[in-house]
Amino acid sequence: MLQDLASVMFDEKVLAAKCQELGRQLTEDYAGKDLLVVGILKGSFMFFSDLVRSINMPLNIDFMAASSYGSGTETSGKVLIKKDLSVDIKGRHILLVEDIIDSGVTMSQLMAELMKREPASIRLCALLSKPSRRRIEVNIDYCGFEVPDEFLVGYGLDYAENYRNLPVIGVLKREIYS
Ligand code: IMP
Ligand code: MG
Repeated sequence: MLQDLASVMFDEKVLAAKCQELGRQLTEDYAGKDLLVVGILKGSFMFFSDLVRSINMPLNIDFMAASSYGSGTETSGKVLIKKDLSVDIKGRHILLVEDIIDSGVTMSQLMAELMKREPASIRLCALLSKPSRRRIEVNIDYCGFEVPDEFLVGYGLDYAENYRNLPVIGVLKREIYS
């Protein structure tokens, strides 16, 4: 799989250090609060598991699945909730964990939907952000890295459902998807 990458952008060491850094900050910010960490499937699964292990306090976890992408590399502009939360979030502090914010369409729609359920707070933690691609403003409370407009795979990120199990994040060779 590594031979399908034009370059490695973040290796295991850099990703682990970022999770530790974010985890320390979250541990401080949510001290004494009832925290529900929500992973957005499938892309966040690897980041999610590293991140929650670096948050040093009691917390609950849950997952949602949404998609706006199909199997290509361009967003369709619509979000579909494919799997909903299994608990009521009213009055709870919610931390959404996402792999990457690209156009912002998926996250802004998900956030709007979750706000209707009257949580005590909702914050967003995204490992990656592509600011140059934004179509809708999304406030990322905890952002791992800002990245250029390249198609990235690995560490949860896919191209047509492949490469999620790569332990690093890299730029997919253009000839693979064009
Ligand atoms: P948005 O609605 O355009 O912000 O799309 C966010 C979703 O698109 C992410 O959760 C990813 O699943 C997917 N996505 C965006 N950019 C990339 C990329 O470079 N590689 C893989 N998936 C991506
Ligand atoms: Mg995806």
